[in-house]
Amino acid sequence: MASKFINITLKIWRQKNTNAKGAIETYSLQQVSTDSSFLEMLDQLNEQLINEQKEPVAFDHDCREGICGMCSLYINGRAHGPETGTTTCQLHMRSFADGDTIYVEPWRSRAFPIVKDLVVDRSAFDRIQQAGGFVSVNTSGRTMDANAIPVPKADADKAFEAAACIGCGACVATCKNGSAMLFVGAKVSQYALLPQGRVEAKERVQNMVRQMDEEGFGNCTNTGACEIECPKGISLENIARMNREFLSSVITSDK
Ligand code: SF4
Ligand code: FES
Repeated sequence: MASKFINITLKIWRQKNTNAKGAIETYSLQQVSTDSSFLEMLDQLNEQLINEQKEPVAFDHDCREGICGMCSLYINGRAHGPETGTTTCQLHMRSFADGDTIYVEPWRSRAFPIVKDLVVDRSAFDRIQQAGGFVSVNTSGRTMDANAIPVPKADADKAFEAAACIGCGACVATCKNGSAMLFVGAKVSQYALLPQGRVEAKERVQNMVRQMDEEGFGNCTNTGACEIECPKGISLENIARMNREFLSSVITSDK
């Protein structure tokens, strides 16, 4: 398909730092290729702002291929924009029309404070991971080959699906309660389903849920918005599994 060029108006959240008062500012951008990604369009805007001796818009990105989860933007009121199963870096300008006005905002959640403009601090997710999102292995040189441990195919598939979570935070941003339970459910599930993860399963789920609560995330009330907006198709089933893991660990814990 031949590339087209469109002219758009951008309404972008600008905020100097965490404590400053932010506001939406308006920019007009001409000749945007419909083949460019949403982030390339923001690069084009920043070049224009730099040429005009203005401050470029700060936004997060790294891999630009849907892997790292950094490109967290609210676009026209939806996490990662209008397409489903897509991160912002995988969104293309062909999803917009000539003359469109596009609103671009950062994730809004108490647990993800704004650092600058569209960049938020998602280190709360790192601390939840550090609280239990790992498996301890014997590194003495006599470590058992993981493939030597039989795993039922259905469990391996479900663990793999849970492990697809990229920690982008769209689930939190889109949830009216600011809940992180889809993220934590995925991280608990990817280990709970495998024999290697069972050894520390009880401590893991309790520690990760405790850290999630300490970070100020809200509770799940089963609205399901997180599942709809998750770019990796993480299922609500993972929240149910985390709840079962948590309940059974509390009941059977000897501490
Ligand atoms: S569960 Fe989905 S929306 Fe939430 S952090 Fe993981 S990939 Fe992102
Ligand atoms: S920049 Fe890595 S997922 Fe978008």
